[in-house]
Amino acid sequence: MYDGHNRQINYLRVSVTDRCNFRCAYCMPTQGVKLLRHAEILTYEELLRVIRVVSEHGVSKIRLTGGEPLVRRGIVDFIRSIANLNTITDVSLTTNGSLLAGMAAKLKDAGLNRVNISLDTIDPDKFRNITYGGNVAETIKGMEAALAVGLTPVKLNVVLTNIISERDLAYFVDLVHREPISVRFIEYMPIGESQAGPGPGIEEIKVMINAFGRGTLKPTLNIRGNGPAKYFYLPQAKGSFGFITPISEHFCGVCNRIRLTADGKFKPCLLSNQEIDVKAALRQGASDNEIAELFYKTIADKPQGHTLANAGGQTKFFRKMSQIGG
Ligand code: GTP
Ligand code: 5AD
Ligand code: SF4
Repeated sequence: MYDGHNRQINYLRVSVTDRCNFRCAYCMPTQGVKLLRHAEILTYEELLRVIRVVSEHGVSKIRLTGGEPLVRRGIVDFIRSIANLNTITDVSLTTNGSLLAGMAAKLKDAGLNRVNISLDTIDPDKFRNITYGGNVAETIKGMEAALAVGLTPVKLNVVLTNIISERDLAYFVDLVHREPISVRFIEYMPIGESQAGPGPGIEEIKVMINAFGRGTLKPTLNIRGNGPAKYFYLPQAKGSFGFITPISEHFCGVCNRIRLTADGKFKPCLLSNQEIDVKAALRQGASDNEIAELFYKTIADKPQGHTLANAGGQTKFFRKMSQIGG
């Protein structure tokens, strides 16, 4: 399925909950976020129906996000039901990793292919601070469990904020030498009154990585992913580094995705306020064809690109990142 800008749309990001056991400073304010009531979020049956319908119209890759997807009860069986659709070829999950150690084996067994894990720093105090109470040891255990059961490639998401230190980079350089992990640095997107301080830029990070004397970053195209990261390798490293640059070099021209929020809205673009109400249709007895029509409308409405850096970044976003799933 192609949109009006000749982009093939084959990927749906599904936010299964707006709740999270963390409150990362760049994602979810610690106060004043109104959480959805249970009746407002799509049931697993409703989510699965939407996924099945869009998969009959060209979507073959599903990523589950949140909030934190692993806090929603029944997630393992839900993943199994998605993996059982023969139209779906890739089921992945983006998580904060805190509950992963205890769930990785079950997730793998259910048919999950791979995970991306948020890990901004390995400093326990800074980690607790930026996540508002998280324990970095749990997330690292989650990462190790994901590797052990083969939820690979495991990718780490590091949002660039002012907490990142030389010690973190030393840990990441060592990690990619030891493990088949991809460490991705992400430019912070100022969406929904975030309180994160600005961090180093991508070029600065590259210079710092090269300065460890363990080789120079070289571009590679060999990393499995459906997303916007550009990947680089170091000689002799099992893993790689990736850079996600929504601000300095946006990737809208190759965008392949739409989103579904936990409260049942299709979003043509992460960085636009436009939404198309699927829940109302589902709950008014829409046919599969009518749901497919909403999917086609979402694709037709995809903007050519985002305008975050335009107009001095004045766009007012209605949702926080935690309500979309990144
Ligand atoms: P794979 O490449 O399939 O592994 O996944 P991904 O990198 O697309 O997914 P992930 O959920 O790990 O997201 C990583 C970062 O990319 C997060 O900060 C997302 O907010 C950001 N991101 C993902 N998709 C988009 C997009 O369409 N537009 C923008 N601006 N950012 C995105
Ligand atoms: N800017 C960039 N990335 C963000 N994420 C959450 N909020 C932001 C933001 N404001 C990332 C997290 C998580 C993924 C879903 O989105 O790192 O891994
Ligand atoms: Fe929760 Fe992930 Fe947002 Fe952090 S980035 S608050 S872990 S949803």
